[in-house]
Amino acid sequence: MRAVRHIAEPPRVPAAPLIGGLAGALAYRRDPPAFLRRWRARLGPVFTLSLAGVEMTVVAGPAEAEPVLRAPDTRLGARAAQARFGFERTLGPIALHVGTDLHQTLLVRERRRWDGDLEARLRDAVARALDAEPSGEVELFAALRRVALRATARAFGSDALAAEPFLARFAAFQDVLEEATARGAALPGFVARPLVYEPVHRRGRALVREVVGLLRGASLAPYLAALRARLPDPGDDDALGEIVLGLLFAAHKNVAIGAAQLLCFTAGTPPEGEALDRAIRETLRLCALGLGSLRQVRGAPFPLGPWRLPPGRLVAVSHQLLARDPALWDEPDVFRPARFAEPAAPFAWIPFGAGPHGCPGRSVALRLIRELAAAVAARGLTLQGAPPPLDFTRATLAQRRGPVHARLG
Ligand code: HEM
Repeated sequence: MRAVRHIAEPPRVPAAPLIGGLAGALAYRRDPPAFLRRWRARLGPVFTLSLAGVEMTVVAGPAEAEPVLRAPDTRLGARAAQARFGFERTLGPIALHVGTDLHQTLLVRERRRWDGDLEARLRDAVARALDAEPSGEVELFAALRRVALRATARAFGSDALAAEPFLARFAAFQDVLEEATARGAALPGFVARPLVYEPVHRRGRALVREVVGLLRGASLAPYLAALRARLPDPGDDDALGEIVLGLLFAAHKNVAIGAAQLLCFTAGTPPEGEALDRAIRETLRLCALGLGSLRQVRGAPFPLGPWRLPPGRLVAVSHQLLARDPALWDEPDVFRPARFAEPAAPFAWIPFGAGPHGCPGRSVALRLIRELAAAVAARGLTLQGAPPPLDFTRATLAQRRGPVHARLG
Protein backbone atom coordinates (compact mmCIF):
# COMPACT_ATOMS: atom_id res chain seq x y z
CA MET A 1 0.00 0.00 0.00
CA ARG A 2 1.33 3.48 -0.86
CA ALA A 3 1.91 5.75 2.12
CA VAL A 4 -0.03 9.00 1.93
CA ARG A 5 2.37 11.87 2.74
CA HIS A 6 0.80 14.30 5.16
CA ILE A 7 1.29 17.93 4.21
CA ALA A 8 0.84 20.28 7.17
CA GLU A 9 -0.80 23.37 5.72
CA PRO A 10 -0.80 26.84 7.31
CA PRO A 11 -4.17 28.05 8.69
CA ARG A 12 -6.62 29.39 6.14
CA VAL A 13 -8.76 32.48 5.82
CA PRO A 14 -12.17 30.78 5.65
CA ALA A 15 -13.95 31.19 2.32
CA ALA A 16 -17.70 30.86 1.83
CA PRO A 17 -18.50 28.06 -0.64
CA LEU A 18 -18.65 28.95 -4.37
CA ILE A 19 -18.11 32.69 -4.22
CA GLY A 20 -15.52 32.54 -1.44
CA GLY A 21 -12.49 33.09 -3.66
CA LEU A 22 -14.04 36.03 -5.41
CA ALA A 23 -15.35 37.54 -2.17
CA GLY A 24 -11.87 37.17 -0.65
CA ALA A 25 -10.29 38.90 -3.63
CA LEU A 26 -12.79 41.75 -3.48
CA ALA A 27 -12.45 42.21 0.30
CA TYR A 28 -8.68 42.28 -0.19
CA ARG A 29 -8.94 44.88 -2.96
CA ARG A 30 -11.09 47.27 -0.89
CA ASP A 31 -8.46 47.77 1.84
CA PRO A 32 -5.45 45.45 1.53
CA PRO A 33 -3.61 46.27 4.80
CA ALA A 34 -6.79 46.14 6.91
CA PHE A 35 -7.71 42.78 5.37
CA LEU A 36 -4.20 41.37 5.92
CA ARG A 37 -3.87 42.77 9.45
CA ARG A 38 -7.19 41.23 10.49
CA TRP A 39 -6.15 37.75 9.40
CA ARG A 40 -2.59 38.04 10.65
CA ALA A 41 -3.98 38.86 14.13
CA ARG A 42 -6.27 35.82 14.05
CA LEU A 43 -4.13 33.25 12.25
CA GLY A 44 -0.48 34.17 12.97
CA PRO A 45 2.45 35.11 10.72
CA VAL A 46 1.76 32.51 7.98
CA PHE A 47 -1.72 31.99 6.56
CA THR A 48 -3.36 31.04 3.29
CA LEU A 49 -6.10 32.88 1.49
CA SER A 50 -7.93 32.20 -1.71
CA LEU A 51 -7.93 34.80 -4.49
CA ALA A 52 -10.48 33.77 -7.12
CA GLY A 53 -9.77 30.11 -6.47
CA VAL A 54 -5.99 30.55 -6.45
CA GLU A 55 -4.38 29.77 -3.11
CA MET A 56 -1.85 32.27 -1.81
CA THR A 57 0.14 31.87 1.40
CA VAL A 58 0.89 35.21 3.06
CA VAL A 59 4.08 35.48 5.11
CA ALA A 60 4.19 38.27 7.71
CA GLY A 61 6.84 37.37 10.30
CA PRO A 62 10.58 38.15 9.96
CA ALA A 63 11.66 34.61 10.89
CA GLU A 64 9.38 33.21 8.18
CA ALA A 65 10.15 35.91 5.58
CA GLU A 66 13.89 35.21 5.66
CA PRO A 67 13.85 31.62 4.28
CA VAL A 68 11.24 32.59 1.68
CA LEU A 69 13.26 35.54 0.37
CA ARG A 70 16.59 33.73 0.51
CA ALA A 71 15.33 30.61 -1.29
CA PRO A 72 16.89 29.99 -4.71
CA ASP A 73 14.74 30.38 -7.80
CA THR A 74 14.70 26.61 -8.27
CA ARG A 75 12.67 26.30 -5.02
CA LEU A 76 10.64 29.53 -4.98
CA GLY A 77 10.32 31.03 -8.44
CA ALA A 78 9.60 34.72 -9.03
CA ARG A 79 8.86 34.62 -12.79
CA ALA A 80 6.17 31.93 -12.49
CA ALA A 81 4.43 34.00 -9.80
CA GLN A 82 4.58 37.15 -11.96
CA ALA A 83 3.21 35.18 -14.92
CA ARG A 84 0.22 34.14 -12.77
CA PHE A 85 -0.70 37.83 -12.52
CA GLY A 86 -0.64 38.26 -16.29
CA PHE A 87 2.75 39.98 -16.71
CA GLU A 88 3.90 37.50 -19.34
CA ARG A 89 1.10 38.76 -21.57
CA THR A 90 0.75 42.41 -20.47
CA LEU A 91 4.43 43.40 -20.30
CA GLY A 92 5.61 40.58 -22.55
CA PRO A 93 7.63 37.37 -22.11
CA ILE A 94 10.96 38.95 -23.08
CA ALA A 95 10.59 41.79 -20.56
CA LEU A 96 9.70 39.22 -17.91
CA HIS A 97 12.09 36.36 -18.61
CA VAL A 98 15.08 38.05 -20.25
CA GLY A 99 14.78 41.67 -19.09
CA THR A 100 14.48 41.16 -15.33
CA ASP A 101 17.47 38.78 -15.29
CA LEU A 102 19.54 41.28 -17.27
CA HIS A 103 18.57 44.07 -14.85
CA GLN A 104 19.60 41.84 -11.92
CA THR A 105 22.93 41.15 -13.63
CA LEU A 106 23.69 44.72 -14.65
CA LEU A 107 22.35 46.59 -11.62
CA VAL A 108 23.74 44.24 -8.98
CA ARG A 109 26.59 42.08 -10.27
CA GLU A 110 28.05 44.03 -13.21
CA ARG A 111 27.55 47.56 -12.01
CA ARG A 112 31.14 48.62 -12.66
CA ARG A 113 30.83 47.98 -16.39
CA TRP A 114 28.50 50.87 -17.02
CA ASP A 115 27.94 53.08 -13.97
CA GLY A 116 31.10 55.24 -14.11
CA ASP A 117 29.24 58.56 -14.28
CA LEU A 118 25.90 57.40 -12.90
CA GLU A 119 25.74 59.85 -9.99
CA ALA A 120 26.29 62.88 -12.24
CA ARG A 121 24.02 61.42 -14.90
CA LEU A 122 21.16 60.97 -12.41
CA ARG A 123 21.56 64.47 -11.00
CA ASP A 124 21.62 65.98 -14.48
CA ALA A 125 18.63 63.90 -15.64
CA VAL A 126 16.60 64.98 -12.58
CA ALA A 127 17.54 68.65 -13.05
CA ARG A 128 16.55 68.60 -16.74
CA ALA A 129 13.36 66.69 -16.01
CA LEU A 130 12.33 69.19 -13.33
CA ASP A 131 13.18 72.15 -15.59
CA ALA A 132 10.47 70.89 -17.94
CA GLU A 133 7.82 71.49 -15.22
CA PRO A 134 6.42 75.04 -15.24
CA SER A 135 6.05 76.92 -11.95
CA GLY A 136 2.59 77.14 -10.43
CA GLU A 137 -0.19 74.86 -9.18
CA VAL A 138 0.46 71.12 -9.50
CA GLU A 139 -0.92 67.83 -8.25
CA LEU A 140 2.17 66.62 -6.41
CA PHE A 141 2.07 62.91 -7.30
CA ALA A 142 1.34 63.56 -10.98
CA ALA A 143 4.08 66.19 -11.25
CA LEU A 144 6.72 64.01 -9.58
CA ARG A 145 5.71 61.11 -11.74
CA ARG A 146 6.31 63.13 -14.93
CA VAL A 147 9.68 64.24 -13.57
CA ALA A 148 10.73 60.73 -12.46
CA LEU A 149 9.70 59.22 -15.78
CA ARG A 150 11.63 61.77 -17.84
CA ALA A 151 14.68 61.37 -15.61
CA THR A 152 14.59 57.55 -15.72
CA ALA A 153 14.13 57.50 -19.49
CA ARG A 154 17.18 59.74 -19.97
CA ALA A 155 19.48 58.27 -17.31
CA PHE A 156 18.89 54.60 -18.18
CA GLY A 157 17.58 54.66 -21.75
CA SER A 158 18.30 57.52 -24.08
CA ASP A 159 17.62 61.25 -24.48
CA ALA A 160 15.51 60.17 -27.45
CA LEU A 161 13.04 58.47 -25.07
CA ALA A 162 12.35 61.68 -23.13
CA ALA A 163 9.73 62.63 -25.74
CA GLU A 164 6.61 63.95 -23.99
CA PRO A 165 3.86 62.29 -26.06
CA PHE A 166 5.56 58.90 -25.72
CA LEU A 167 6.08 59.30 -21.96
CA ALA A 168 2.44 60.37 -21.44
CA ARG A 169 1.24 57.32 -23.42
CA PHE A 170 3.59 55.11 -21.44
CA ALA A 171 2.33 56.42 -18.06
CA ALA A 172 -1.28 55.81 -19.14
CA PHE A 173 -0.32 52.28 -20.26
CA GLN A 174 1.23 51.56 -16.85
CA ASP A 175 -1.95 52.68 -15.07
CA VAL A 176 -4.09 50.48 -17.31
CA LEU A 177 -1.72 47.56 -16.76
CA GLU A 178 -1.88 47.98 -12.97
CA GLU A 179 -5.66 48.12 -13.03
CA ALA A 180 -5.76 45.01 -15.24
CA THR A 181 -3.44 43.16 -12.84
CA ALA A 182 -5.77 43.95 -9.92
CA ARG A 183 -8.91 43.01 -11.88
CA GLY A 184 -7.30 39.90 -13.34
CA ALA A 185 -6.30 38.66 -9.87
CA ALA A 186 -10.00 38.53 -8.92
CA LEU A 187 -10.90 36.43 -11.99
CA PRO A 188 -10.09 32.90 -13.14
CA GLY A 189 -7.20 32.84 -15.66
CA PHE A 190 -9.33 31.67 -18.59
CA VAL A 191 -11.53 34.79 -18.19
CA ALA A 192 -8.74 37.24 -17.33
CA ARG A 193 -6.53 36.31 -20.30
CA PRO A 194 -8.85 37.24 -23.21
CA LEU A 195 -10.90 39.95 -21.49
CA VAL A 196 -8.43 41.74 -19.24
CA TYR A 197 -4.83 41.04 -20.30
CA GLU A 198 -5.26 40.92 -24.09
CA PRO A 199 -6.25 44.60 -24.61
CA VAL A 200 -3.29 45.67 -22.44
CA HIS A 201 -1.00 43.44 -24.50
CA ARG A 202 -2.09 45.21 -27.72
CA ARG A 203 -1.39 48.66 -26.22
CA GLY A 204 1.99 47.40 -25.06
CA ARG A 205 2.90 46.21 -28.57
CA ALA A 206 2.10 49.65 -30.01
CA LEU A 207 4.41 51.24 -27.40
CA VAL A 208 7.20 48.76 -28.18
CA ARG A 209 7.00 49.86 -31.85
CA GLU A 210 7.19 53.47 -30.67
CA VAL A 211 10.29 52.75 -28.55
CA VAL A 212 11.95 51.00 -31.50
CA GLY A 213 11.26 54.07 -33.67
CA LEU A 214 12.59 56.52 -31.06
CA LEU A 215 15.78 54.50 -30.46
CA ARG A 216 16.58 54.08 -34.18
CA GLY A 217 19.94 55.80 -34.70
CA ALA A 218 19.77 57.41 -31.21
CA SER A 219 22.69 57.38 -28.80
CA LEU A 220 22.01 55.10 -25.84
CA ALA A 221 22.76 55.74 -22.16
CA PRO A 222 25.60 53.50 -20.90
CA TYR A 223 23.08 51.26 -19.10
CA LEU A 224 21.02 50.52 -22.20
CA ALA A 225 24.14 50.10 -24.36
CA ALA A 226 25.48 47.53 -21.85
CA LEU A 227 22.12 45.81 -21.79
CA ARG A 228 21.87 45.60 -25.58
CA ALA A 229 25.35 44.09 -25.77
CA ARG A 230 24.19 41.30 -23.44
CA LEU A 231 21.07 40.38 -25.41
CA PRO A 232 21.11 36.91 -27.00
CA ASP A 233 20.72 38.83 -30.32
CA PRO A 234 21.94 42.45 -29.88
CA GLY A 235 20.32 43.36 -33.20
CA ASP A 236 16.85 42.37 -32.02
CA ASP A 237 15.26 45.84 -31.74
CA ASP A 238 11.85 44.50 -30.71
CA ALA A 239 13.37 42.60 -27.78
CA LEU A 240 15.23 45.74 -26.68
CA GLY A 241 12.04 47.81 -27.01
CA GLU A 242 10.09 45.39 -24.82
CA ILE A 243 12.84 45.36 -22.20
CA VAL A 244 12.88 49.19 -22.16
CA LEU A 245 9.14 49.15 -21.50
CA GLY A 246 9.67 46.73 -18.59
CA LEU A 247 12.48 48.89 -17.20
CA LEU A 248 10.43 52.11 -17.29
CA PHE A 249 7.61 50.15 -15.65
CA ALA A 250 9.78 48.93 -12.75
CA ALA A 251 11.96 52.00 -12.33
CA HIS A 252 9.98 55.24 -12.25
CA LYS A 253 6.63 55.03 -10.48
CA ASN A 254 7.61 53.89 -7.00
CA VAL A 255 10.48 56.38 -7.06
CA ALA A 256 8.01 59.16 -7.85
CA ILE A 257 5.58 58.00 -5.17
CA GLY A 258 8.42 57.69 -2.63
CA ALA A 259 9.58 61.26 -3.33
CA ALA A 260 6.02 62.64 -3.25
CA GLN A 261 5.27 60.87 0.04
CA LEU A 262 8.49 62.15 1.55
CA LEU A 263 7.44 65.69 0.62
CA CYS A 264 3.99 65.06 2.16
CA PHE A 265 5.43 63.73 5.42
CA THR A 266 7.91 66.63 5.66
CA ALA A 267 5.44 69.36 4.61
CA GLY A 268 7.41 70.18 1.46
CA THR A 269 10.76 70.77 3.19
CA PRO A 270 12.73 67.53 3.58
CA PRO A 271 15.81 67.58 5.84
CA GLU A 272 19.35 67.23 4.47
CA GLY A 273 22.25 64.81 4.86
CA GLU A 274 21.80 61.79 7.09
CA ALA A 275 18.43 63.05 8.35
CA LEU A 276 17.19 62.94 4.73
CA ASP A 277 18.26 59.29 4.37
CA ARG A 278 16.37 58.42 7.56
CA ALA A 279 13.29 60.31 6.42
CA ILE A 280 13.35 58.37 3.12
CA ARG A 281 13.60 55.05 4.97
CA GLU A 282 10.75 56.02 7.25
CA THR A 283 8.63 57.08 4.26
CA LEU A 284 9.25 53.74 2.54
CA ARG A 285 8.39 51.91 5.77
CA LEU A 286 4.99 53.56 6.11
CA CYS A 287 4.19 53.17 2.40
CA ALA A 288 5.57 49.63 1.88
CA LEU A 289 3.70 47.25 -0.42
CA GLY A 290 0.91 45.03 0.90
CA LEU A 291 1.97 41.86 -0.95
CA GLY A 292 5.49 42.84 -1.87
CA SER A 293 7.52 39.76 -2.82
CA LEU A 294 5.70 37.09 -4.85
CA ARG A 295 7.06 33.59 -5.34
CA GLN A 296 5.74 30.18 -6.44
CA VAL A 297 6.75 26.84 -4.91
CA ARG A 298 8.63 24.68 -7.44
CA GLY A 299 9.53 20.99 -7.25
CA ALA A 300 9.08 19.49 -3.78
CA PRO A 301 6.90 20.98 -0.99
CA PHE A 302 8.60 23.98 0.62
CA PRO A 303 9.17 23.69 4.39
CA LEU A 304 8.34 26.85 6.36
CA GLY A 305 8.48 26.43 10.15
CA PRO A 306 5.98 23.70 11.01
CA TRP A 307 4.28 24.03 7.59
CA ARG A 308 4.83 22.44 4.20
CA LEU A 309 3.73 24.55 1.22
CA PRO A 310 2.71 22.38 -1.74
CA PRO A 311 4.26 22.73 -5.24
CA GLY A 312 2.50 25.41 -7.29
CA ARG A 313 1.48 27.43 -4.21
CA LEU A 314 1.85 31.21 -4.53
CA VAL A 315 3.70 32.76 -1.61
CA ALA A 316 3.62 36.50 -0.83
CA VAL A 317 5.78 38.23 1.75
CA SER A 318 3.84 41.22 3.09
CA HIS A 319 6.25 44.15 3.35
CA GLN A 320 3.47 46.28 4.86
CA LEU A 321 2.63 43.86 7.70
CA LEU A 322 6.31 43.60 8.62
CA ALA A 323 6.74 47.37 8.41
CA ARG A 324 3.87 48.04 10.84
CA ASP A 325 4.26 45.10 13.21
CA PRO A 326 4.06 46.51 16.77
CA ALA A 327 6.36 43.70 17.94
CA LEU A 328 9.07 45.08 15.62
CA TRP A 329 8.43 48.83 15.74
CA ASP A 330 7.62 51.25 18.53
CA GLU A 331 4.45 53.21 17.60
CA PRO A 332 4.48 51.72 14.09
CA ASP A 333 1.95 54.15 12.59
CA VAL A 334 3.88 57.30 13.52
CA PHE A 335 6.31 59.02 11.08
CA ARG A 336 9.51 59.19 13.13
CA PRO A 337 12.71 59.09 11.02
CA ALA A 338 14.94 59.13 14.12
CA ARG A 339 14.03 55.48 14.71
CA PHE A 340 16.50 54.67 11.90
CA ALA A 341 19.39 55.96 14.01
CA GLU A 342 19.44 52.32 15.17
CA PRO A 343 19.48 49.46 12.66
CA ALA A 344 16.03 47.90 12.10
CA ALA A 345 15.41 44.30 13.21
CA PRO A 346 16.38 41.80 10.45
CA PHE A 347 13.64 41.49 7.78
CA ALA A 348 11.46 44.14 9.45
CA TRP A 349 12.25 46.83 6.81
CA ILE A 350 12.12 45.27 3.36
CA PRO A 351 10.34 47.74 1.02
CA PHE A 352 12.58 46.43 -1.80
CA GLY A 353 12.15 42.74 -0.96
CA ALA A 354 15.40 40.79 -0.55
CA GLY A 355 17.32 37.76 -1.81
CA PRO A 356 17.91 36.66 -5.41
CA HIS A 357 14.78 38.48 -6.64
CA GLY A 358 14.93 41.49 -4.36
CA CYS A 359 14.77 44.83 -6.19
CA PRO A 360 18.02 45.29 -8.14
CA GLY A 361 17.26 49.04 -8.42
CA ARG A 362 17.30 49.63 -4.68
CA SER A 363 20.40 51.84 -4.43
CA VAL A 364 19.47 53.73 -7.61
CA ALA A 365 15.95 54.25 -6.24
CA LEU A 366 17.20 55.69 -2.94
CA ARG A 367 19.52 58.04 -4.81
CA LEU A 368 16.79 59.14 -7.21
CA ILE A 369 14.36 59.87 -4.34
CA ARG A 370 17.07 61.93 -2.64
CA GLU A 371 17.84 63.87 -5.85
CA LEU A 372 14.16 64.46 -6.63
CA ALA A 373 13.28 65.64 -3.13
CA ALA A 374 16.32 67.94 -2.95
CA ALA A 375 15.69 69.39 -6.43
CA VAL A 376 11.99 70.03 -5.74
CA ALA A 377 12.75 71.55 -2.33
CA ALA A 378 15.35 73.83 -3.96
CA ARG A 379 12.72 75.07 -6.43
CA GLY A 380 10.38 75.71 -3.47
CA LEU A 381 7.27 73.67 -2.80
CA THR A 382 4.24 74.74 -0.78
CA LEU A 383 1.61 72.14 0.04
CA GLN A 384 -1.91 73.48 -0.02
CA GLY A 385 -3.72 71.93 2.93
CA ALA A 386 -3.06 68.63 4.68
CA PRO A 387 -2.61 65.65 2.31
CA PRO A 388 -5.42 63.05 2.37
CA PRO A 389 -4.75 59.70 4.14
CA LEU A 390 -2.61 56.94 2.61
CA ASP A 391 -4.18 54.73 -0.06
CA PHE A 392 -3.03 51.12 -0.43
CA THR A 393 -5.42 49.97 -3.14
CA ARG A 394 -2.76 49.83 -5.90
CA ALA A 395 0.08 47.30 -6.09
CA THR A 396 2.60 50.17 -5.77
CA LEU A 397 3.91 51.98 -2.72
CA ALA A 398 0.94 53.60 -0.97
CA GLN A 399 -0.39 56.72 -2.67
CA ARG A 400 -2.98 59.19 -1.27
CA ARG A 401 -6.77 58.91 -1.29
CA GLY A 402 -7.19 62.14 -3.21
CA PRO A 403 -5.15 64.81 -5.01
CA VAL A 404 -2.34 66.62 -3.17
CA HIS A 405 -2.40 70.22 -4.36
CA ALA A 406 0.84 72.14 -4.18
CA ARG A 407 2.57 75.17 -5.63
CA LEU A 408 5.93 74.65 -7.31
CA GLY A 409 8.24 77.68 -7.23
C1 HEM B 1 11.22 53.32 -4.41
C2 HEM B 1 11.42 52.68 -5.56
C3 HEM B 1 11.31 51.20 -5.74
C4 HEM B 1 10.66 50.27 -4.94
C5 HEM B 1 9.87 50.49 -3.66
C6 HEM B 1 10.88 48.98 -5.58
C7 HEM B 1 10.41 47.80 -5.06
C8 HEM B 1 10.55 46.58 -5.68
C9 HEM B 1 10.04 45.33 -5.15
C10 HEM B 1 9.27 45.17 -3.85
C11 HEM B 1 10.38 44.36 -6.01
C12 HEM B 1 10.07 42.85 -5.86
C13 HEM B 1 11.12 42.28 -4.94
C14 HEM B 1 10.89 40.86 -4.52
O1 HEM B 1 10.14 40.14 -5.21
O2 HEM B 1 11.47 40.44 -3.49
C15 HEM B 1 11.09 44.98 -7.12
C16 HEM B 1 11.56 44.30 -8.20
C17 HEM B 1 12.25 44.90 -9.23
N1 HEM B 1 12.66 46.22 -9.31
FE1 HEM B 1 12.26 47.65 -7.96
N2 HEM B 1 11.64 49.15 -6.70
C18 HEM B 1 11.93 50.48 -6.84
C19 HEM B 1 12.70 51.06 -7.84
C20 HEM B 1 13.31 50.38 -8.85
C21 HEM B 1 14.23 50.97 -9.81
C22 HEM B 1 14.70 52.43 -9.80
C23 HEM B 1 14.59 49.98 -10.69
C24 HEM B 1 15.54 50.01 -11.86
C25 HEM B 1 16.47 50.93 -12.06
C26 HEM B 1 13.89 48.76 -10.27
C27 HEM B 1 13.96 47.54 -10.92
C28 HEM B 1 13.36 46.39 -10.47
C29 HEM B 1 13.39 45.12 -11.21
C30 HEM B 1 14.06 44.86 -12.56
C31 HEM B 1 12.68 44.18 -10.43
C32 HEM B 1 12.44 42.69 -10.74
C33 HEM B 1 13.47 41.87 -10.04
C34 HEM B 1 13.27 40.36 -10.21
O3 HEM B 1 12.12 39.91 -10.33
O4 HEM B 1 14.28 39.62 -10.23
N3 HEM B 1 13.14 49.04 -9.16
N4 HEM B 1 11.20 46.33 -6.88
